[in-house]
Amino acid sequence: MNIAIIGAGNVGATIGRRWRETGHSIRYGVRDPSAEKHQGLTDHAKIMRNREAAEESDIVVLATPWPATEAAISEFRDAIDGKILVDCTNPLEPDLSGLTIGHNDSGGEQVARWAPSARVVKALNTTGSNNMDDPEIDGVRTVMFVAGDDPEARKIVSGLTNDLGFDTIEVGELASARMLEPLAMLWISMAFRFGLGREFGLALLRRT
Ligand SMILES: NC(=O)c1ccc[n+]([C@@H]2O[C@H](COP(=O)([O-])OP(=O)(O)OC[C@H]3O[C@@H](n4cnc5c(N)ncnc54)[C@H](OP(=O)(O)O)[C@@H]3O)[C@@H](O)[C@H]2O)c1
Repeated sequence: MNIAIIGAGNVGATIGRRWRETGHSIRYGVRDPSAEKHQGLTDHAKIMRNREAAEESDIVVLATPWPATEAAISEFRDAIDGKILVDCTNPLEPDLSGLTIGHNDSGGEQVARWAPSARVVKALNTTGSNNMDDPEIDGVRTVMFVAGDDPEARKIVSGLTNDLGFDTIEVGELASARMLEPLAMLWISMAFRFGLGREFGLALLRRT
């Protein structure tokens, strides 16, 4: 698929490289395509401005810091009618001490209000970018949750997270982001406050 990734940081660059390895075509949307820091990505992707990347792609993935997300969307909002917009962001306090939105709303739903004509799917927000690079731990695939109001869009995004190597589970409508964003907060707290570090993931055990 043609995928635009808005924000070429830890998350964006990791999933972009991995998706390229599985055959997808990647465009990064960045603020300054000529910046030196992006040139290392040209081995697997095109680097362009946000709007151009969104226009050229079937799927747009948001991997921006929460405070930058509304402005980023405003650059391509009218270029993504009916397209899938994957929201990987978390509405974090700047010091990572908590979430700025919840529990009767979510960042995912706020993204959908900012991009009302897109099919917004929440995914890739509940684990660290290190696990997006290598989702399998000791032979077990870690879990990825996918939520969105459009079942077809949810299925397509589940295919993409499976391509990365996750054990994907769909968890219903976009409002499930109200649970997924606190789950991300739990992962962050376990990693940085409760002493686990980043090298752990969550997995589902299914009784057969
Ligand atoms: N890091 C993780 O493990 C992780 C895991 C799950 C979810 N998340 C969420 O994913 C999002 C990205 O996290 P990250 O760790 O990848 O952050 P990051 O490393 O800081 O990368 C964010 C990128 O977004 C770019 N950016 C900022 N404003 C932009 C705009 N208007 N248009 C295009 N690009 C813009 C930044 O570019 P500049 O350098 O030019 O500012 C930077 O390259 C956050 O919302 C975070 O909460 C992170």
